[in-house]
Amino acid sequence: MKVLEAGMDFRGRWALVTGASAGIGVALARELARRGANLILTARRTDRLQALADDLTATGAEVRVIAADLNDSAAPQQIFNATEGAGLPVEILVNNAGLGQYGAFHSSPEEQELSQVRVNCEAVVRLTRLFVPRMVERRRGWVMVVASTASFQPVPYLTTYAATKVFDRFFAQALAAEVARFGVKVTALCPGSTESEFFDVARAAAFKRGVQSAEDVARQGVEAMARGKRTVIPYFGGRFTALLVRALPVSLITYAVERAARPKS
Ligand SMILES: NC(=O)c1ccc[n+]([C@@H]2O[C@H](COP(=O)([O-])OP(=O)(O)OC[C@H]3O[C@@H](n4cnc5c(N)ncnc54)[C@H](OP(=O)(O)O)[C@@H]3O)[C@@H](O)[C@H]2O)c1
Repeated sequence: MKVLEAGMDFRGRWALVTGASAGIGVALARELARRGANLILTARRTDRLQALADDLTATGAEVRVIAADLNDSAAPQQIFNATEGAGLPVEILVNNAGLGQYGAFHSSPEEQELSQVRVNCEAVVRLTRLFVPRMVERRRGWVMVVASTASFQPVPYLTTYAATKVFDRFFAQALAAEVARFGVKVTALCPGSTESEFFDVARAAAFKRGVQSAEDVARQGVEAMARGKRTVIPYFGGRFTALLVRALPVSLITYAVERAARPKS
């Protein structure tokens, strides 16, 4: 009953989902629509966004599609202008868009290193800074930041990625504490290996073990957000590992990960 009540909070509310063209973002958008939310879908691949929009519209949701490249620092303001700025109240902000890169940092493509910082961190701050003030004024709102279990320890060969994800998790957890008294809830969703295009984009097949479905991750993430939970790790192994790494010296964990993750060639 409690779950149903929490889910009902989203009925008829507008949710903005970044990275809604693939993987976890698609699943988050579908889960929010299933709970009655209207959707604003954004990413670069608009053909995919449009196909998802058609599906969700057929289930009764209202849907808008916005093409945006979050590498562009002007994109968050453009998204805001086309939504909240045009009178569409965004009550749910899902910062999901993100990318990784596997390999030795000293020889990896610099552009993808920097893109991780821009999309995974800078765009999250810009979007959240734009939308949260209206939520605070309304004394109601929900923000999700998709972090990762990579945020619980340094991860050699996913060096920048793990650093961006600890940024995401700490950003979400600190903001949650700030805005709770204004009725705004912030959730850090920390998935482990999840079925999506992430491993292709990051060239990180070596990390693809025991993948969870994006649907399962999204269901648990949205439920946690509806309940106002500040951190959610959507599988038992991830919750266990997050506890374990807190009990061990960070130098030992980092040493072990470096040995396990070192590229073969
Ligand atoms: N899969 C995993 O194992 C895993 C584990 C932990 C956390 N995560 C996190 O989950 C989130 C979603 O990733 P995913 O696994 O679903 O990967 P994915 O299938 O590769 O999806 C990534 C999404 O981000 C969007 N995106 C990437 N760069 C963008 C840019 N410059 N501008 C706008 N949108 C951009 C992509 O859209 P376009 O390419 O169409 O722009 C796509 O919709 C990420 O934050 C990731 O770090 C994933």
